Amino acid sequence: MNLLKMDDLTNHEINELLNQAQSFKEEKQKVNLNGLVGALLFYEPSTRTKLSFEMACHKLGIKLLSFSKETSSVSKGESLYDTVKTIEALGADFIVIRHPEKRYFEQLTDLNIPIINGGDGTGEHPTQSLLDLMTIKESFNQFDQLQVAICGDIKHSRVAKSNAYALSRLGANIRLVAKEKWQDEQLPFPYIDMDQAALDSDVLMLLRVQKERHGGVSYDQQSYLEQFGLTIKREQMMKDNSIIMHPAPVNRGVEIDSSLVESPRSKIFEQMNNGVFIRQAIITNCLQKGGAFHENSDSE
Ligand code: CP
Repeated sequence: MNLLKMDDLTNHEINELLNQAQSFKEEKQKVNLNGLVGALLFYEPSTRTKLSFEMACHKLGIKLLSFSKETSSVSKGESLYDTVKTIEALGADFIVIRHPEKRYFEQLTDLNIPIINGGDGTGEHPTQSLLDLMTIKESFNQFDQLQVAICGDIKHSRVAKSNAYALSRLGANIRLVAKEKWQDEQLPFPYIDMDQAALDSDVLMLLRVQKERHGGVSYDQQSYLEQFGLTIKREQMMKDNSIIMHPAPVNRGVEIDSSLVESPRSKIFEQMNNGVFIRQAIITNCLQKGGAFHENSDSE
């Protein structure tokens, strides 16, 4: 079974995955998939997603094929389809793909190997969204009526889209913060200013400024933190139990004052830790018949 976008999962399936990831974290469940082989195809840079999939595979007993865009025949012009078809022919059991093209997976629908989307351009990042949901659930034990502000480079962020839609259908109230150029008018959520977001949000979800998607157009880093970032002054305005999240990598001093990255409210490194357990749960369900994932993409 594939996991390509958050709409592939019903609310029930999301909750099943979060519960299973939690039981991996609490060591209440062990799954041994010794003998299976996966491949991680990353056409864009990654630290967390790639390494946490590797860690999840180690914990599940899965071996990984080695692949790099630079040393494989991708550098000779091999297409994504032919690379994936080759890995399927070699007998691998699943593939994780990160690719700069939005909805790259639509060209792979004829293949039979399970595909997990590790990020498709500015499209979606479903495994990041699931680890974010796990982190929020650990803090609040629910999503209903939570005030969530997603702040930053909304237009170029795949995390923003996956999280906004998923959290909204789980009952959270979504508001967005972005400079005008980085707003996305296709998202049906209101924009507010950063002071308002700091004042009354339960979850302040910051995003990385995605310079690599700006086509060489620069922005003023100095004024960005003051206008759109989380300063120490804004952190002091936050409610007692509110949390700070960021998918990372973090541009310290741009999206957030550097001293807040490891502050008591920050869940940034907890998000990374949860990424291992959520990816264990995702792989397990992609590979098991009768796992949490359904065949169709109808949402509840
Ligand atoms: N959050 C995230 O996707 O990080 P990487 O780009 O390092 O994988």
